[in-house]
Amino acid sequence: MNIIIRDTYQEMSRYAAGLVASMIRQKPDCVLGLATGSTPIATYRELVRMHKEEGLDFSQVKTFNLDEYLGVGMDLGKPYEMDQSYARFLYEELFRHTNIRKENIFLLDGLAKDPDEFCKVYEEEIKKSGGIDLQLLGIGCDGHWAFNEPGSSLASRTRVEALTKQTLDDNYESFYKKAGIPREQMPHFAITMGVGAILEARNILMMANGRKKAVVVAKAIEGPVTSLITASAIQLFRGGITVVLDREAASELKYTEHYLHREKLKNEFFFQ
Ligand code: PGA
Repeated sequence: MNIIIRDTYQEMSRYAAGLVASMIRQKPDCVLGLATGSTPIATYRELVRMHKEEGLDFSQVKTFNLDEYLGVGMDLGKPYEMDQSYARFLYEELFRHTNIRKENIFLLDGLAKDPDEFCKVYEEEIKKSGGIDLQLLGIGCDGHWAFNEPGSSLASRTRVEALTKQTLDDNYESFYKKAGIPREQMPHFAITMGVGAILEARNILMMANGRKKAVVVAKAIEGPVTSLITASAIQLFRGGITVVLDREAASELKYTEHYLHREKLKNEFFFQ
């Protein structure tokens, strides 16, 4: 596991964007799994900047969204603040500023008539695309990966999941409150890629920032693997793992010195 610690949110986001960009440059038709939430916002903004100023080319990139609230869908007729779908978030933060093709964007449909069937088809689409090359992930304050709330099987597939009170509170503070949407109107269910489905990606890029994530980040990375912290499944991942943290989110880790040392050795020896 590569654990990268940067002093600030902006610096960690630049590092994360650099990893995504190098994946796109190495494999222009790569498949990205995209996360939503406040954590990746600056990463997406940096990618947009790279597209505009450095010609980072999204024309062959395919994307799959990680999760979506159940009962909402992208509604371009609504102002951005009033449409809290994750599809809309990615449209506003990333898609519309790049040259990604519409047909290469795969969204979890929160309005699907038969969500269970939809989830199966979605996983088939991922397989048909050759699998996810790089999966972006945040981590919730309750330890969730995507919307795999505590108690989700670590082998779980893409499915409908009920949200915890903690997640509802966090997302209310980060998004709904700012948009002036009453908490009672928040969806209590979501469609989420399962932990088992996430573990099938080739590479994982997990990001976290801020003091409020510090304890849960330490539990996920250094604690026991448990379905009560679904992000701890990262310890079972077989592919390439990079965890990018700001100083505050890394503040409860026990082995920080080792992680910093390891990164330095890699820079000196492995990447030359
Ligand atoms: P956040 O959410 O980025 O809004 O903190 C992270 C997550 O729920 O995975």
